[in-house]
Amino acid sequence: SRRTLVHGAGGLVDTVLREVAQAGAGHGGQVRHQEPRPADGQRVVAGEVDAGAGEFDLVLALRTTAPLPDQAVAVEAEFRQRYGEHADPLGDEGFVLGRHGQGTVVLADAPAGLLYGLFHVVRLGESAFGADRPVERHRPAMRLRMLDHWDNVDVHHDSGQVERGYAGGSIFWQIGEPRRDPDRVRAYGRLLAACGVNAVAVNNVNVHATEARLLTDRIGDVAAIAELLRPYGVRVYLSVSFAAPIVLGGLSSADPLDEEVRAWWAGTTRQVYETIPDFGGYVVKADSEGQPGPFAYGRSHADGANALAEALAPFGGVVHWRAFVYNHRQDWRDRSTDRARAAFDHFAPLDGQFRENVILQVKHGPMDFQVREPVSPVIAAMPATRLAVEFQVTQEYTGQQRHVCYLGPLWREVLDFGPWGAGGPTVATVAAGPAVDDGGSASAAGGSAPTAGGGLVAVSNVGDDPFWTGHPLAQANLYAFGRLAWAPGMDPSAILDEWIDLTFVPSTTADPELLRRTLHEIMDDSWHTYERYTTPLGVGFMVRPGHHYGPDVDGYEYTAWGTYHFADRDGIGVDRTRRSGTGFTGQYPQPWSDVYESLERCPDELLLFFHHVPYGHLLHSGSTVIQHIYDTHFAGVEEVARMRRRWERLSAAGLVDPGLDARVRERLDEQLRSAQEWRDQVNTYFFRKSGVPDARGRRIH
Ligand code: GCU
Repeated sequence: SRRTLVHGAGGLVDTVLREVAQAGAGHGGQVRHQEPRPADGQRVVAGEVDAGAGEFDLVLALRTTAPLPDQAVAVEAEFRQRYGEHADPLGDEGFVLGRHGQGTVVLADAPAGLLYGLFHVVRLGESAFGADRPVERHRPAMRLRMLDHWDNVDVHHDSGQVERGYAGGSIFWQIGEPRRDPDRVRAYGRLLAACGVNAVAVNNVNVHATEARLLTDRIGDVAAIAELLRPYGVRVYLSVSFAAPIVLGGLSSADPLDEEVRAWWAGTTRQVYETIPDFGGYVVKADSEGQPGPFAYGRSHADGANALAEALAPFGGVVHWRAFVYNHRQDWRDRSTDRARAAFDHFAPLDGQFRENVILQVKHGPMDFQVREPVSPVIAAMPATRLAVEFQVTQEYTGQQRHVCYLGPLWREVLDFGPWGAGGPTVATVAAGPAVDDGGSASAAGGSAPTAGGGLVAVSNVGDDPFWTGHPLAQANLYAFGRLAWAPGMDPSAILDEWIDLTFVPSTTADPELLRRTLHEIMDDSWHTYERYTTPLGVGFMVRPGHHYGPDVDGYEYTAWGTYHFADRDGIGVDRTRRSGTGFTGQYPQPWSDVYESLERCPDELLLFFHHVPYGHLLHSGSTVIQHIYDTHFAGVEEVARMRRRWERLSAAGLVDPGLDARVRERLDEQLRSAQEWRDQVNTYFFRKSGVPDARGRRIH
C-alpha cells in the first residue's frame, strides 16, 4: 500500500484529496492532508497517519503553500536546475513531476495543476513510481480545451434530444428539465478532468425556444451543472440566441448597435454572473443554417460578436463566435457559389475588428467535418483575431458511433499542418497562441499577434448511454481530443495506449499483450479504413440527407446545401481552382495556394476536393481515379471484416467484460453491413456512370 501526502488548501485540493482517498481505499493506502493553520503557519494533519511519519510514496504539493514538505523541496530544486530560467510560470494548470528518494512528487501553483498532476500519475500507473524519473514540467498547450454539447433540453422532432448525438439522451438534461442524477454529471466532470478538458457548453448551438431561456429565467439550471463540474476545474458556457433581446427581452430588435439591445445584454449578463461567478461565456451560431444574426440589421459579424463581448468583458467572460456561416439555400445550378469559400469570404475581411474577448471558432475544414478535408483557410487568414479550432468528436460523418473510427490521427494531422508551409507555425500553434515562454518558437505568423489563442473546441460524443459514447471504443476519441488539446504533439498511438490502459486495465486480464495489440490493430488505422469504404479522394458527403448515416451518392447532389461531387459519365470532383473553378485555392497562402491549384502537385487524398478530373486520371499512387475508387472500397470492407475477426479473438479469450463485448460485437456487425452497402453503392454508381470495368474483375452490381 502507498502513502500519500496532499499539501495545500482550496477548492480543488479537496477534490485531489477525495481522489487519492478513493484510489487508496481499494488498496489499503493511507492519505495525509496538510495545510497551514492560518494563525501560526503550523501544519494541520488530517488523516490517519502519525505526524512526522517520514517519507511518502506520493506527495502532491502546492508550491504556494509554505513550508513545503522535504521531498517537495528536493524536487523543486531539481526542477530549477533542469529548467533554469525557463522554469516559470507553471500557470493555473501546469505541474511538475519528479522523484525524490522513494517518493513521486507533484508540484503545482494552483489546485487545478495538482489535480491534473494526479491524473497524470494515474495514467502513468506503476511507471510513475519507477526509481529513475527525471523531473518534468507539464503545461497545457491550449488554455481552453472545450467540449460543445449539442444537447437540447427538450426533444426536437427532427433531431432527438442531442443533435447529432449517438449515445442516447443528454447527460445534462432530462426531457424538459435538468437531470435528477447529479452523480452522473459529477462523474462526467471527473472524466473530463482526467482527459484534460476544462470547459463545456451545455446546450446546442441551434438554440430552440426552451433552450433560449437557459440564459434568463432558467439560469439556475445551468448553475446547478456548474456546481457539479466546478470541483473538477470545468467551467460552463452557454449557447445563446442572437435574437435573445427579442425572444426573451421583449425588445423589437436585436440590432447589435442599438443602445437598448446592448443594455439588455449587459443586464442579462450581469445576472448570469451573479448566479454563476465563474461562468465561461457565450457560444453563438449566428446567420448560419437559419439561426438569427447581425445580417438582419445590416451589421457585420464583428458588430454582432462585439456587442456580446462588451457585455461579458467586465466579468472576464468570452464569446465564442462560430465561423460556420454559409448560404444553405443555394441553387445547385449556380456554379459560382462555393460553400467552401464562405467562411473566409465572411470573416477574413473582419480580421482585427473583434474585441479581445471574442474567440472566432473555426471548423477545421472549410466544409463540415468530412472524413477528409483540407485545413480551413480561415485559420491562416486572421492573425489579429483569437481563433479556436473546432473538431467533431461526435461521429456525425464518421460512422455515428456505430463504426470504429479513431479520430486521433485525423486531428493530429490537422494540428500539425503548417498553413504557411513546412517549418512555419502550425494549426496547433495558431490555436494555442503565442506560448508563455517557449523560447518564442510559437509566435503567430504575420501581422500583430493576438494575446492568446482561442484553444481547441470539439462537439461532444457523450450521452446518457451506459458506455458514455454508444460505441465503447468511441471513448478513445473523447480521450484523444482532451490529450491533443493539452499536448498537440502527442502520438495518437501513444494516446491510445494510455486510453487502453486506463479503460481496460490490461494488468488484470489474462493476456494483456493480446488485448493491447488487438485494440491497436482494430483502431490505429480505422480512420483510413472508414475513408476507404466511404467517399473517395476528398470529395465528401454522398451520405443520406438529413441523418447523414449510410451511402447515398446523389443524396445531396441537387439540394440547396452546397455539397456536390459533380460526377458525370466522364469524371468527378469540384473544380476549386483559380484558373477554371471557384477560386477557392486562392484563399490559401503559399505554398498551398499553388500546390492545391496544381493538378500535378495536389495530394491524392484531396484531389477531388480541388479538381474535376476524368476517371482515367492517373494518381501519384499509379492508379487511375476509377480504379482507386474500386480498390479502396473493396479493401475497406475487407479491413472491417478483419477488425471483426480480431475482436472475436478477444471475446473468445474472455479478455473483456461481457456487456461491453456484446455491445462492440453488435456494432462491428453493423459496421460490416454498412461498409458493404457503401462499397456496393459507390462502386456500382461509378461503374454505371463511367462504364469502366474493374481491372481486377471483382463483382460490381
Ligand atoms: C452540421 C450539422 C448540424 C450542425 C451544424 C453546425 O451541419 O449537421 O447538425 O448544427 O453542423 O455545426 O452548426
